[in-house]
Amino acid sequence: MPEVRLRRWRLTDAADVAVMADDPYLSPWSTMVDGVEEWIRREMAELRGPTRAICLSDDDRALGRVAVRPPELASEAVRCEGIRDSDQPAGELSYWLVPRARGRGLAYGGVRLFLDSVVPALGLRSVVLDIEEGNLASIRLAERLGAERRSPTRVHPGRHGDPHTMVVFVLPVGG
Ligand SMILES: CC(C)(COP(=O)(O)OP(=O)(O)OC[C@H]1O[C@@H](n2cnc3c(N)ncnc32)[C@H](O)[C@@H]1OP(=O)(O)O)[C@@H](O)C(=O)NCCC(=O)NCCS
Repeated sequence: MPEVRLRRWRLTDAADVAVMADDPYLSPWSTMVDGVEEWIRREMAELRGPTRAICLSDDDRALGRVAVRPPELASEAVRCEGIRDSDQPAGELSYWLVPRARGRGLAYGGVRLFLDSVVPALGLRSVVLDIEEGNLASIRLAERLGAERRSPTRVHPGRHGDPHTMVVFVLPVGG
């Protein structure tokens, strides 16, 4: 498996990740759509929890992102019907890769590294992945990470009001 590295975001990452503003699975939710430079500034400030750029050990360019929101800053996914009391406190995990970096296991490597190095400090019992039902690559990744699919699915409006069917996966962390 290629060796991945995580690092904090820099303003100069904007050009490398701007393509994600058009991604069909990200654009319904991400504020990157409103401007990639502002998005990077918010990532650098980590106002919504720890976030890291995924890169290769021998190439410092940002190829992707992995982030976790603590419970108080997470979406309603961490409190939906599929989440049990025994999962709490639950954070919300998210990830993506730019298209040219996909298909090489980099997301798996980056997320595992993040779970081992960044998530433990948050004192969570689990992380929740909120995935669109048709997003098979993300669902496969969640399964490979060991996350458990829960029901029921939820229909959630994206930023344009269009409905998206979402499914939560729960991955125990820590303790
Ligand atoms: C989700 C994402 C990070 C996965 O990274 P990736 O590099 O594409 O992952 P991989 O290529 O290793 O694929 C993961 C698995 O899904 C499978 N897969 C990929 N695309 C697929 C598709 N269209 N249909 C079915 N299976 C697919 C792969 O075969 C692989 O299966 P395996 O683990 O059994 O080998 C990446 O696709 C992405 O950034 N997508 C857009 C943003 C996004 O959806 N983020 C997650 C939001 S919840």
